[in-house]
Amino acid sequence: MKRTILALTALTLLASAAQARTWDQIKASGTIKIATEGAFKPFNYFEGKKLTGFEIDLADAIAKQLGLKVEWITQPFDNLLIGLGQDRYDFVIASHGISPERAKAVDFSDPHYCTGGAIVSKPGGPKSAADLVGKTVVVQVGTTYLDNVKKIKGIKDVKTFQKDTDAQAALMSGRADAWVSDKFLGLDAIKSVPGKLVQGDLLFQEKIAMAVKKGNTSLTKELNASLSKLENNGVYAKLSNQYFGQDIRCK
Ligand code: ARG
Repeated sequence: MKRTILALTALTLLASAAQARTWDQIKASGTIKIATEGAFKPFNYFEGKKLTGFEIDLADAIAKQLGLKVEWITQPFDNLLIGLGQDRYDFVIASHGISPERAKAVDFSDPHYCTGGAIVSKPGGPKSAADLVGKTVVVQVGTTYLDNVKKIKGIKDVKTFQKDTDAQAALMSGRADAWVSDKFLGLDAIKSVPGKLVQGDLLFQEKIAMAVKKGNTSLTKELNASLSKLENNGVYAKLSNQYFGQDIRCK
C-alpha cells in the first residue's frame, strides 16, 4: 500500500516536472510539433495519405509565418488533450471549442473560427431540440456536441462514437434519427450525399481555438500574434473562402 502510494507520488511528480517546450526552445529546434485528428472534414482530414483541411493549411501558414517546419502528429480526438499534457507535441488544432471544463486542463489561443453544433437528419427527420424527444441521437465522444445533447431532456438514447464519421454512418444506415456535429462540417457532409441528409437547427454556438499546454504562455503569445497577422494579410480569408465559400472567423 505504502509502496503504491510512493510510486504514484513519484509518477505525479514526474508528470508535473516534465516541461512543455517554450517558444525559445521550439524556435531553436526549427520544427514545431502539431497534433490533430485527421477525421473531421473539411477542418482536418486525410485525402488518401495526405493530411489536409482548413486547420491543417492554417497551422502550416502559422508555422511558415513563424519560420518553422512542421511535424504533424495524428491521434484519436479523445487522446489529443491528454497527449498535450504529456508533452508529446507543442499544440493541438482539432476544432476544440473553448469550454470552462477544457480551460482547466489546457490554455487556449485566440479563436481561429466561430461555429456551432447543428442537427443533421434524413429528410423528414428531427430538425429541432424538441423533435429529438424520444429519438436516438449520435455524436462523437469527448465533444461539446455530447455535452450539449445531454442537456436536452427526453432524448431516448445518445450513442457515442470514437469518430464523427462513424456517427454520420450510423445516421445514414438508420441506426439513429439524428446526428449532431459542427454546422460547417454538416453542410459539407450533406453536399457529398445529395438528397440524403438535411441540416436542422443550430443547438449551440462555440468559439474554436488551438490548445496549448497549460502555462506555456510564450507559445500562446506567438500563435496569437501569427494568427492575427494571417487574419490581416488576406491569408486567412483566402483559406476560409477556399474551404467554406465564406469567411468563418469570429466577428
Ligand atoms: N467542436 C467540437 C468540440 O469542441 C468537436 C470537435 C471535434 N474535432 C475533431 N477533430 N473531431 O468538441
